[in-house]
Amino acid sequence: MFRKGDFGKDFKWGITISAFQNEGAANEDGKSASIWDSFTSDIFNINDGNAPGETSGFYHNYKDDIKLTRDLGFGVFRFSLSWPRIIPDGKGRSNQKGIAFYNRVIDSCLEEGLEPWVTIYHWDLPQCLEEEGGWTNRGILQWFSNYVEIVTKAFGDRVKHWIVMNEPMTFVGLGYFTGYHAPGRNGIGNFLKAAHHATLCMAEGGRIVKKNVKNSEVGVALSCSYVKPANKLFFSRGAATRVEGLLNRFFIEPLLGLGYPTDIMPALNIIKSYFLPGDKERLAFDFDFIGLQYYFRVVAKFSLFPPVLFATEVPPWQRKTNLNSMGLDVYPKGVSALLDFFAHYQGIRKIFLTESGVCYPDFLRGDKINDARRKKYHQKVLKQVRKAIKRDIPVAGYFVWTLVDNFEWREGFQPRFGLVYNDFKTQKRSVKSSGRWFKDFLRGD
Ligand code: NOJ
Repeated sequence: MFRKGDFGKDFKWGITISAFQNEGAANEDGKSASIWDSFTSDIFNINDGNAPGETSGFYHNYKDDIKLTRDLGFGVFRFSLSWPRIIPDGKGRSNQKGIAFYNRVIDSCLEEGLEPWVTIYHWDLPQCLEEEGGWTNRGILQWFSNYVEIVTKAFGDRVKHWIVMNEPMTFVGLGYFTGYHAPGRNGIGNFLKAAHHATLCMAEGGRIVKKNVKNSEVGVALSCSYVKPANKLFFSRGAATRVEGLLNRFFIEPLLGLGYPTDIMPALNIIKSYFLPGDKERLAFDFDFIGLQYYFRVVAKFSLFPPVLFATEVPPWQRKTNLNSMGLDVYPKGVSALLDFFAHYQGIRKIFLTESGVCYPDFLRGDKINDARRKKYHQKVLKQVRKAIKRDIPVAGYFVWTLVDNFEWREGFQPRFGLVYNDFKTQKRSVKSSGRWFKDFLRGD
């Protein structure tokens, strides 16, 4: 096994949470509705049929959760800001009560000796902006810039680590292409427009953070998947290359100044019809670090549907593999190839695993939960991270998704990812054995 010291003394150990999944208090203190409040107000949009309600109650329990993070031995607390809590009309002036809440969160982190890392956008767009087209409206560049200006000026004196956006491929792909996530829109046109605007916003957000926050470190958090062809046949390999390109290259390459990877499939060239003069340059920004978030393996095969991609996934349940409680293929070793892949880009200087975790069913016995599988999962990923460091891959931190079980978007409350069990009726927390393992490990040398 490994020890904490094997990762280096500057390696960061963190916890990640997000506003919509944890805060609750959807209508308190002047907050307006987000697209996720609207989307989940239709119970048919939640697979387990449970409305988010107070989720894990962070808006009121934030002090205890921050203290718990410290007690478990972590040094970084990564949380996201709710845009509709801070700017209820999406575009204009800030809501002082929203700002005050995040000031309390940041100050609590500092009191506990935790580094606050702020994610500016983790999917909860103000609903009023969606009514004007949301991410498909180029006006979002202006709205988002105003939001970034406000939050960097409000919190930049104490927050030095900023993640402009979380997993653009997830919220653009599922929100604007398949309609599985909020706001439930679909089609290639919506997808490409939203993707282009999101990329412009990431780069512009990075520039604004640098302008307003002295000594800041700024990055983005990108989802990535380990992709493998179903077999050695030419068509399967082609399918895997396209899926991999879409999932792992689509956002990072324009941000690095390489343009969209249109070689993956010619139809992606349509995105250029949404360019205005200067966009190619505007898409690039020299981020201090890149956050990677890896959860599952995809096995790809050729398929006529969906057209354009001409590839589909061999469903994990059809293969002999380890499934998580969302039916996804858990393959911790995949992180190794992904770290190598991202580190090969010249423009990437530092990588953090800004989320890593797994959902398995948990069973409370008394007030104890033995989640040996989750503990093993983290250990297996960490083993790969340790090896990557030995190969000189610049991976500088590991952040667990997540502290307490929370609301997993469309899947509802069923998937539990936390190191701490949450009873959603009482908000009572019970540390799982995975959490206890982290506590011992992080206390070690
Ligand atoms: C990544 C997302 O950022 C987070 O919101 C989500 O809960 C986890 N993946 C688990 O699916």
